[in-house]
Amino acid sequence: MTSRIIDLLRTGQPDQTVTIQGWVRTRREQKEFCFVEVNDGSSMAGLQAVLHQDLPNYTELVKQLNTGASVEMSGVLVASPAKGQRIELKAESVTVYGGADPETYPLQKKRHSFEFLREIAHLRGRTNTLGAVFRVRNACATAIHQFFQERGFLWVHTPIISANDCEGAGELFTVTALDLKQVPLTETKDVDYSQDFFGRRAFLTVSGQLEAEIMAMAFTNVYTFGPTFRAENSNTSRHLAEFWMIEPEMAFCDLNGNMDLAEAFLKHIFRYVLEHCPEDMEFFNQRIDNSVLATADNIINNSFERITYTEAIALLEKADRKFEFPVSWGLDLQSEHERYLAEELFKKPTIVTDYPAAIKAFYMRLNDDGKTVRAMDILAPKIGEIVGGSQREERLDVLERRIQDLGLPQDDLWWYLDLRRFGTVPHAGFGLGFERVVQFMTGMTNIRDVIPFPRTPLNAEF
Ligand code: 4AD
Ligand code: MG
Repeated sequence: MTSRIIDLLRTGQPDQTVTIQGWVRTRREQKEFCFVEVNDGSSMAGLQAVLHQDLPNYTELVKQLNTGASVEMSGVLVASPAKGQRIELKAESVTVYGGADPETYPLQKKRHSFEFLREIAHLRGRTNTLGAVFRVRNACATAIHQFFQERGFLWVHTPIISANDCEGAGELFTVTALDLKQVPLTETKDVDYSQDFFGRRAFLTVSGQLEAEIMAMAFTNVYTFGPTFRAENSNTSRHLAEFWMIEPEMAFCDLNGNMDLAEAFLKHIFRYVLEHCPEDMEFFNQRIDNSVLATADNIINNSFERITYTEAIALLEKADRKFEFPVSWGLDLQSEHERYLAEELFKKPTIVTDYPAAIKAFYMRLNDDGKTVRAMDILAPKIGEIVGGSQREERLDVLERRIQDLGLPQDDLWWYLDLRRFGTVPHAGFGLGFERVVQFMTGMTNIRDVIPFPRTPLNAEF
């Protein structure tokens, strides 16, 4: 049976007979021996294999063991005389599955820029940094499911093709089966989507929230974890056109319960990843951002700051610095404002609540002042907004008025309004941007380097 290298590094014992499979990272030739480091993606460190010249076909074999070659090796583990490794593999048989020509294999021993690695996204998982990123990403996903499953939340699968624009920002990708060379038009020269696949215009979803609300009205506590799509043309280090979002939705819950859950949730993810990926986190701290471990510690051990939007504006107006974008009550917070609050002022995640209704989505619960809604954004140092959520408007008349005021298609939302007609309850939820939390965790500066195959404007390779 093949062993995973991480298991051998942790618990492998001298004299144990093992087989490993993986890709060659480095080869060092000496007089009688050749040292080959093999990595199978299970951990940052690979296993060092020692090939003795007595091996059949030694010279031919060693020539094939270039960086990037795929191999299987069997042998016995021995205590390693080398520093920094407990054991190594004394190889007794070696099979090369596929070579990798050093003239053309793009991953050289030197350090490559993240920009370059994005161009070879089909190979970049074999580098130390991206390997660590994708293991941490996996641990984050596991932590997320564990958190909700332990609390009795139902994982619900909301549709990827959707007819509504939940966030109302108009950043939608249309899904169509129409022949784009012969688009049917209505009398008013609009596209006639009644002839399209769904008999109406459909989009890739920007959020599973509205459907999650449906499910919460039957199962009390639910969450989604799936891909979401936004056609916003922003080429920033924090935006993707396709990203993953986790959206819990809780019936019988208000904004305070929502904030408490979000805070416990983020703490849990950090704790889990530190426990399950210590080497990878240590690597990020050493090589990517030397505040990674301190940040994790801060998240886990301190309570988040909680302020209202109105208080946030007052603090920004008092700030002893100039912002590029204006600060005034009623305007949305820009990334520089968010970062000032979380990074410089409070130096920890900051939850801002009760934003002006005019800058938030239609479904948020209106406060008694008639001007603000029960929204909450969690702002993270270095990242800015990482969570967006709210208590939902559960009052039919207030919701209908808001839909009318915003000129939204009330007919399309008949089922959403029905939830307020039949057994409505106060409820709340939020969306966590999955890539943003992985960024926050690892200190990676560009969001394109925390998702295996980033989708951004003009970029859908791989
Ligand atoms: O604040 P947003 O737009 O909230 C919603 O979609 C709500 N329906 C969530 C809910 O209440 N159930 O998005 C939620 C989060 C943001 O805080 C951000 O972390 C992330 O999703 N996000 C993006 N991440 C990467 N690329 C983008 N283009 C993103 N847009 C939002
Ligand atoms: Mg938001």
